[in-house]
Amino acid sequence: MNKLNIVILAAGKGTRMHSNKPKVLHQLAGKPLLQHVINCAKQLDPAKIIVVYGYGGEAVLHAFAHENITWVEQIEQLGTGHAVQQALPHLDENATTLILLGDVPLLSVESCKKLLDKTEELGLLTFIKPDPAGYGRIIRNSEGIVTAIIEHKDATAQQREIKEVNTGIIAAENRHLANWLKRLTNNNAQGEYYLTDIVAMAKLEDETAVREIADDESSSDGWIGLSKKRYTIATEISQDEASVTGVNCKKDLADLERVYQKRYADSLMLAGVTLLDPLRIDVRGELSVGKDVEIDVGCVFEGKVSIADNVKIGAYCVIKDAEIASGTIIAPFTHIDQAKIGNNSRIGPYARIRPGTTLAAETHIGNFVELKNAQVDIGSKINHLSYVGDSTVGKNVNIGAGTITCNYDGANKFRTIIEDDVFVGSDTQLIAPVTVGKGATIAAGSTITRDAPADQLTLCRAKEQKSIVGWKRPVKIKK
Ligand code: UD1
Ligand code: CA
Repeated sequence: MNKLNIVILAAGKGTRMHSNKPKVLHQLAGKPLLQHVINCAKQLDPAKIIVVYGYGGEAVLHAFAHENITWVEQIEQLGTGHAVQQALPHLDENATTLILLGDVPLLSVESCKKLLDKTEELGLLTFIKPDPAGYGRIIRNSEGIVTAIIEHKDATAQQREIKEVNTGIIAAENRHLANWLKRLTNNNAQGEYYLTDIVAMAKLEDETAVREIADDESSSDGWIGLSKKRYTIATEISQDEASVTGVNCKKDLADLERVYQKRYADSLMLAGVTLLDPLRIDVRGELSVGKDVEIDVGCVFEGKVSIADNVKIGAYCVIKDAEIASGTIIAPFTHIDQAKIGNNSRIGPYARIRPGTTLAAETHIGNFVELKNAQVDIGSKINHLSYVGDSTVGKNVNIGAGTITCNYDGANKFRTIIEDDVFVGSDTQLIAPVTVGKGATIAAGSTITRDAPADQLTLCRAKEQKSIVGWKRPVKIKK
């Protein structure tokens, strides 16, 4: 097989998105549309990926700075053919170019491979669309040979009846492609240089070649030189509509998002996950799962999340870049972001676990507890209404309701260290930097500003409890 170049067309504004953002930066499953296409391209192992960009150029370049891509600017968007013309100087000799569209995010690697396998000079990925409006139609002659692609706007009423459409994904041998692109004109309904016009050119050259071969029958080898070689215009008909559907408006985007999510949910179920409703889960990244994982409705997973065996995730959790070890229960409405949760722990409902937090095994984090950059060791419990930030919490610590580590003085952040077996009474403030020694008890309602020694009770409250005899509640003043 020829060396492979891939050109991705991504210069269009996407007028129908009604957005200031370039279309290819709109996200599907948490990633820009163009990222999906680039990922597909990379799996085909090309010698080169060239992206033709234009509208919103800076933003597009910035979003893909991490990718190894040849960027080509199309300053004016004069059509798909004009877009590919911009890439011509970067194409390799003796290679085949696969042209992809930046707004077709679910394109399958398999379809591309099949198309490339069939392509000699030119190959088209087509699709039979019951409602083909808007698409370029594949024109075939009585022998079924492709003769042209006619854009919807240029098609006659009769041609518009044709259900086989151009997906926009086209493969062509570079030497021919260069030759055809040079001859494009914009003499059509949209005043654009259509990439699709190369099909009719190829067909015409093919017919010329046939005639010349016939004229030349006396010659010993049947044909002489490139111009007399017969072309084949190969077609691969995709069977999967979503994989060839382009995003033109927000509705298309939402429709494809649902397709993507349903497929992801199916793959999770096939891997053994119990989803209480496969239509109500969103994975915007990669979710890896162990055995006997159960996920209730409305959960969102972002980035890289791994969930070990026997984990249960309650309804409406949002979990991002996290590891959850086996046997842990995450109760509903919990948010976890860049954190690790140990095995057999119980988190939530309504817990918020923020970046840098690591919980060891058998920890309990209850409702309305916020943890940030906290390392909590085995068996410790923070069950109600607390903020624990920039803290190290030892083993078997019990932190009472309403405890706050005051880690920030308005300018700098400081750590709180709570050693093993500490008991912190409710409504305590620990003013960092501060250390509570092993086995210490802090009385409820204390504001701890200095280190608390191990094994002792430390308290800091108003000295005595007073009751005022004869005190009266204020009454409402009559106007
Ligand atoms: C195109 C095809 C049509 C096919 C359809 C499939 C042509 C002329 N038409 O039509 O046959 O059925 O896709 O979705 O090729 N782009 C550029 N520069 C430009 C114009 C477009 O980079 O000057 C990019 C767009 O950003 C987009 C892609 O090319 O990613 C397709 O362009 P679009 O205008 O959406 O083409 P369609 O009219 O949908
Ligand atoms: Ca389109």
